[in-house]
Amino acid sequence: MAAAARPLLSCHDVSKHFGALAAVKDLSFEVFPGDILGISGPNGAGKTTLFEAISGLNPATAGSIVFDGEEITALPPEAICHAGIARIFQLNAAFESLSVRENVRVAAYFGRDNRKIPGLRIGPEVDRTVQDALASVGLTDKDDMIAGELPVLDRKLLMLAGALATQPKLLLMDEPVGGLSPQEIDHMIEVVRRIAAGGITIVLIEHVMRFLVQLSNRILVMHHGERIYEGSPDGLVKDEAVVDVYLGKGASERLAALMAAAGP
Ligand SMILES: Nc1ncnc2c1ncn2[C@@H]1O[C@H](COP(=O)(O)OP(=O)(O)O)[C@@H](O)[C@H]1O
Ligand SMILES: [Mg+2]
Repeated sequence: MAAAARPLLSCHDVSKHFGALAAVKDLSFEVFPGDILGISGPNGAGKTTLFEAISGLNPATAGSIVFDGEEITALPPEAICHAGIARIFQLNAAFESLSVRENVRVAAYFGRDNRKIPGLRIGPEVDRTVQDALASVGLTDKDDMIAGELPVLDRKLLMLAGALATQPKLLLMDEPVGGLSPQEIDHMIEVVRRIAAGGITIVLIEHVMRFLVQLSNRILVMHHGERIYEGSPDGLVKDEAVVDVYLGKGASERLAALMAAAGP
């Protein structure tokens, strides 16, 4: 038997308690290099809390998280970022009065290594990283625009460019298409495909199931902090628990039709 690839990210029995509430409960899963793992589930299921734990912003209260062979469960967020995990947030986060280029520059400069002596090592490699990140999301022509003046889609793309500028191995995206039009969602699907094709492993949280099933090779559905489904997008729409507590019959039939139309 061929040796299985080592997971890039493993969560073992991860829990996050807020007082008596178990927002995430004994959750275990693995993400392999090249995966696009989609995570969905009802509001309050614990999806964002899981990302908080992985990225170190609000650490797990039990369990262990291993990234690229290293235990990261209790590391501070900047160490996790430098280890190679980048995250984009549900709400837009940017330096409003800085330009697109300046925003990505900050991410490229601070996101990669520990800058113990700021200012000493800014150089052409930072600029190259910024160019590449802007090109990956299609913002090259808007690099002089002020972040606060961008339309919604471009703000999301900017946040994504900032994440890419940290040169991550793993990208965590929390509801990247919330508030976007169907055409803008299609655009985001293309951008995410391009990023994945460039060798970055991706975990997506999204309610927009069309986005999730078109991109993900595997889907995990959470409910009350626990897994109720993990498997292929095809299996998802046939899964009784998922249809019952989350999708509903109409939506699951529409998704099945969409997948059938897209072909294998
Ligand atoms: N900082 C916090 N303090 C207390 N409860 C929280 C906190 N963050 C999230 N929760 C609770 O944890 C549960 C999961 O929330 P969340 O992870 O945001 O869900 P999702 O992203 O799946 O909608 C919810 O019941 C929410 O109210
Ligand atoms: Mg959330």
